[in-house]
Amino acid sequence: MLPRIHRRPPSQRPSVAPHVEILPTDPIYLLMMENQTKTHFGFEQVAEAEKARRVADVFDSVAQKYDLMNDVMSGGMHRLWKSFTIARSGVREGSRVLDVAGGTGDLSLAFSRKVGKSGEVWLTDINNAMLTNGRDRLCNKGFLTPAVQCDGEKLPFPDDYFDCVTVAFGLRNMTHKDVALAEMHRVLRPGGRLLVLEFSQVWKPLAPFYDFYSFKVIPRIGELITKDEASYRYLAESIRVHPDQETLKGMMEQAGLEKVEYFNLTLGVVALHRGFKF
Ligand SMILES: C[S@@+](CC[C@H](N)C(=O)[O-])C[C@H]1O[C@@H](n2cnc3c(N)ncnc32)[C@H](O)[C@@H]1O
Repeated sequence: MLPRIHRRPPSQRPSVAPHVEILPTDPIYLLMMENQTKTHFGFEQVAEAEKARRVADVFDSVAQKYDLMNDVMSGGMHRLWKSFTIARSGVREGSRVLDVAGGTGDLSLAFSRKVGKSGEVWLTDINNAMLTNGRDRLCNKGFLTPAVQCDGEKLPFPDDYFDCVTVAFGLRNMTHKDVALAEMHRVLRPGGRLLVLEFSQVWKPLAPFYDFYSFKVIPRIGELITKDEASYRYLAESIRVHPDQETLKGMMEQAGLEKVEYFNLTLGVVALHRGFKF
């Protein structure tokens, strides 16, 4: 049965356009909410706009302690995963590099050292707190790397521009991963490469220990260090709903990338996917 429509006097009705008035109890409103496309936020199903808002909340909350938490949670291993990514990037003096969802700038910093004065590195992220930390950190190390606040799904860069595009631990948080991958493909020059470093599906025998660590230990560490257990529960959940190695490889091929391959790191806790644009 449809709910009763409560009508307020016209002066009190919220209007979304001069000639349209919708109340939260209106059947049309309920139908609109019902029809909103849903997506994952960890294990929850939420409307797409809601996911973007909640991802923003997570990174606003963790930004100040992000680097410390990365070291503690991974036992410093994220540094090795990132070094492996840099080694596979083919970036050298003069290269143009785009770091999507670059956050506090680990990859941008390493690339800035490699490309020299003749190259370019662009640090980008959708979140102002993360990006500001990254930009300041690069600046303190002597690199005036451009930092651009933008959505990985709508990159403000021309077609065929970059030699290398990277996204490390960022794709998982994006709502339309297919759109983001197509954008990263678009801005690569022919011959350029995309590197996606992301949590992935762990080697099966390790799964029970990994589950215990991610669902019981990590949120506690999060609570201790950042006073925010929920954001670190989201981290563990978002990893479980992220596409596995083969699925992500297929998605990259769908986005137009070629010669796509992946490297499992730490028994599949993380995988580096690499594809080329020809
Ligand atoms: C786990 S952090 C990774 C930061 C950095 N790349 C690293 O490896 O340390 C994920 C980052 O993705 C960013 N992010 C989430 N959704 C995004 C989107 N749609 N476009 C661009 N960045 C996004 C977040 O703001 C956050 O800084």
